Amino acid sequence: AFAQVTVTVDAAHPGPVINKNVYGQFAEHLGSGIYGGLWVGPNSKIPNTKGWRNDVVGALKDLHVPLVRWPGGCFADEYHWRDGIGPRDKRPVKVNTNWGGVEESNAVGTHEFFDLVEMLGADAYVNGNLGTGSSREMSEWIEYMTSDSKSTLAELRRKNGHPKPFKVAYFAVGNEAWGCGGNMRPEYYTDMYKQYDSFLKAPREVRPKIIASGGNDSDTRWTEVLSRELKNRTDGISFHYYTIPTGQWKVKGAATGFDEAQWMSTLQNTLKMENHIQDNVAVLDKNDPQKKIGFYVDEWGTWYDVEKGTNAGFLYQQNTLRDAVVAALNFNIFHAHADRVRMTNIAQMVNVLQSMIITDKDKMLLTPTYYAYKMYVPFQDAASLPVSVANDTSYKLGASSIPGISASAARAKDGKLYVALVNTNPHEATDVVLSVAGESAQSVQGQVLTAVAMDAHNTMEQKQAIKPAPFSAQAANGKLTVKVPAKAVVVFSVAG
Ligand code: AHR
Repeated sequence: AFAQVTVTVDAAHPGPVINKNVYGQFAEHLGSGIYGGLWVGPNSKIPNTKGWRNDVVGALKDLHVPLVRWPGGCFADEYHWRDGIGPRDKRPVKVNTNWGGVEESNAVGTHEFFDLVEMLGADAYVNGNLGTGSSREMSEWIEYMTSDSKSTLAELRRKNGHPKPFKVAYFAVGNEAWGCGGNMRPEYYTDMYKQYDSFLKAPREVRPKIIASGGNDSDTRWTEVLSRELKNRTDGISFHYYTIPTGQWKVKGAATGFDEAQWMSTLQNTLKMENHIQDNVAVLDKNDPQKKIGFYVDEWGTWYDVEKGTNAGFLYQQNTLRDAVVAALNFNIFHAHADRVRMTNIAQMVNVLQSMIITDKDKMLLTPTYYAYKMYVPFQDAASLPVSVANDTSYKLGASSIPGISASAARAKDGKLYVALVNTNPHEATDVVLSVAGESAQSVQGQVLTAVAMDAHNTMEQKQAIKPAPFSAQAANGKLTVKVPAKAVVVFSVAG
């Protein structure tokens, strides 16, 4: 007899709350991430509200999107907010130098963005321009958005259609300062941050939480310098890590039609998120033992070779079951670090990189990643619960090996206990014995996302090729065994 995989949830000792902003999104002026994918303009034949597509916004509402980051990414450090206010036909046309060199009409600006987040019921995370802006431009944007005074800028906002101040929940000073944001050293960025932050003078009650732009991958220097120098001056330090199948930027690997070796390498690479978070959290625990500073993974997700025949600057890629597994593995990692990881923003919401939704003119489809987000909705603002996996199987391929089962659990706001399980093995189902310490567990009910092919995906012709199916299990002989199919994400609630 072999020992069975056992997942034990400690229901009696709830841990930190999983901030709903862990399920944040990111919409950059990049490819058809905004133009076409979300924004079609009020005169479009595609049904829209104030220019935003009804179909896409409707689907996003079902994800309870808590937070949207905008306008970039790299785009943010070349974005001048005054270009995006006032009558749309008078706005300057710019070149989007980061993303394909295409024209940027500035049709979507501050007011349009806030229309979107208001429709979604989401908070706004605005990313400021440190790279090509000035501290004056940045401080005036904050004033324009948040001032309730009779200042000329506040009056201009009223004239442009928004009498009340906008609610800016978060504001970041620059993006990827180590790269597209200005190729700075952390020490130089830190000084710049202090200078700019000094002039972001909104009244206390409306001042956004200010985010410092941090490092990426295995580099912890940014977290080290920023957390040492910016005590009481930042709400959080951001961090970016992308999952690339080959681990190489030059040839990254395809979104579909990949072999098992790339299934394995993609999951192996995505699991490095755990190490990256641990390494940065160790630095934060040293410099900020009171845990005032959050660690915000405000860009993450898969990054593949672009689809053939598309503009290389548009970062357009298909999205398969593998992406849903990647998303769920990352969610489980984020939950385990809920005390520091209080926000993450997957890159990106629509049509770009690991997206929720893909559009083609008036059509749209929901990706497997969309469904992973939907299945995990109960984890937003839930109290995390300690979980342990005993006698885990490993998924092995050649010399590579990763844990077979990834697990997470939480007490949701509805009072129910939720468990998420991921089976990384693309061939074998795993029987998991579920044991809940502190209460009785007799049955589970929820959803499973899986498919026959590793690269199962939806197309405009077959929009429902992969979608979640009902999932349930019942205790027998005092044992609650849950069969997790091969290459699957399962989320369920547990009943006593
Ligand atoms: O998400 C795409 C790009 O990736 C972002 O603009 C940039 O911040 C990162 O390099």
